[in-house]
Amino acid sequence: MTFPLPVLSLGARNVCELLFIFGLITYLIFVSLPNDYHKSKVFLPEVEPQTNFNHVVFGLLGSEKALHDRKQCIESWRRPNVTRGVLYLDKAPTGDLIPWSDALPPFRVSDNLTKFLQETKARSPKNIRMVHRIMELVRDTHDVNLRWVVMGDDDSIFFVENIIDVLGGFDHRKYFYLGGQSEFIMANYMYSFNQGFSGAGFILSYPLAKDLASNMENCLRRYAQFISSDTMTMSCIADIGVNLSPHKGFHQIDLHGDLSGLLSSHPKSPLLSLHHLGTVNPIFSGIDYHQSIRHLMEAATTDQSRMLQQTICYNKQSNWSLSISWGYSAHIYEKIMPRSHLQRPLETFKPWKARPSQSLYMFDMMLLSNNSCHAPHVFFFDKVDKVLMGILTTYSRSKPRGLPPCSLTSQYKPDLISQITVLTPPTKRKEVHVIF
Ligand SMILES: *[C@@H]1O[C@H](CO)[C@@H](O)[C@H](O)[C@H]1NC(C)=O
Ligand SMILES: *[C@@H]1O[C@H](CO)[C@@H](O)[C@H](O)[C@H]1NC(C)=O
Ligand SMILES: *[C@@H]1O[C@H](CO)[C@@H](O)[C@H](O)[C@H]1NC(C)=O
Ligand SMILES: *[C@@H]1O[C@H](CO)[C@@H](O)[C@H](O)[C@H]1NC(C)=O
Repeated sequence: MTFPLPVLSLGARNVCELLFIFGLITYLIFVSLPNDYHKSKVFLPEVEPQTNFNHVVFGLLGSEKALHDRKQCIESWRRPNVTRGVLYLDKAPTGDLIPWSDALPPFRVSDNLTKFLQETKARSPKNIRMVHRIMELVRDTHDVNLRWVVMGDDDSIFFVENIIDVLGGFDHRKYFYLGGQSEFIMANYMYSFNQGFSGAGFILSYPLAKDLASNMENCLRRYAQFISSDTMTMSCIADIGVNLSPHKGFHQIDLHGDLSGLLSSHPKSPLLSLHHLGTVNPIFSGIDYHQSIRHLMEAATTDQSRMLQQTICYNKQSNWSLSISWGYSAHIYEKIMPRSHLQRPLETFKPWKARPSQSLYMFDMMLLSNNSCHAPHVFFFDKVDKVLMGILTTYSRSKPRGLPPCSLTSQYKPDLISQITVLTPPTKRKEVHVIF
């Protein structure tokens, strides 16, 4: 039984064009975005080549002990021989880290700062080492072609193509400090609302990194009593005269539990990083932390520009709202819900530290509900296929919703749907607008 429904285009903008092909259990959804939008920020003269992999170097910080497990995180996002970078370790690698894998960036043992630490009586030697790494990276990777340095941890997951695209919109000859706040209000309150949290990664334009590196010792002396490396870095950069440009694609993930609500309603900004995935539930059920990251990366390596980008569409006949978070999840609501509502993450997670009654997030959210008209049917990313017309992503139902239908008289039965397939164009997603 197959009967096509009419093409729908609802909402303020013609963002979704839907063609539903009704199978008993499978929907095929065509989502296309208009192609006539251009990046709003282009500063570079024509002669400068577009920012590419060669212009960006990663400075990662790890401990030898944790790396035996966390090396899989780095391997999940890094492209051997393409992504440039150095991994700074507290001591030389041992055991199964030898021989050193090609899949990891070359390592260096961090400078011995014993003397400096004794002199300054620094409160946190680890934090001094973290900030000092910026100087070590500039020293160790001296290259006139470098435009940007990205600082991260050994358990930060980066989306490098998106990072390069976003950096392409900035003038690398100027001083820029890009990063993200914590999702947890109290973390920003305790440290600073103006710092980039380094688990999510922060990015410095090369001239700024060089300036910071040349003043590193003075800066560390000034702030040796600080307890956070990120606050030290922010303060040293502020003393140069530069402040954070926050970007919504960095994710420190100072949250606990089930992240699916957050990852299903990502802000309209390219996904740049994810952190702390080892301290929350695996982001896909039934598989572990490392397998979940590799699974997410199957979608990300096919089309990074669409990763977690949310598309919301409606079907008038059935009164359904559909929300797709590309490469991660699909939700069906048995009710027409405004976009403004579905853009708020469902509170499936908990804050990093707070009493149960406190929801102290830096973003709007929606409470979970057992009301059949407000609770979604949830499908998670299953597979990605390249086809002639573009890219097909398939999302499968994780478990029955376990609630009666919203309308008892409706002929449409979302409980029977086990899979949703989304077709997107083979070309990169164009920015409709960018939020910083
Ligand atoms: C990286 O480059 C080296 C030297 O050019 C080569 O031997 C090695 O196979 C390459 N590794 C990968 C994963 O491409
Ligand atoms: C670091 O330097 C101190 C002296 O400044 C020395 O005693 C110590 O052995 C050094 N540590 C390492 C690991 O080389
Ligand atoms: C959809 O909603 C409209 C308005 O609330 C209602 O009249 C109609 O019966 C609903 N259709 C279905 C299939 O539930
Ligand atoms: C929904 O129902 C389930 C099962 O009865 C219960 O565990 C859960 O706390 C309820 N959630 C809300 C938000 O009421």
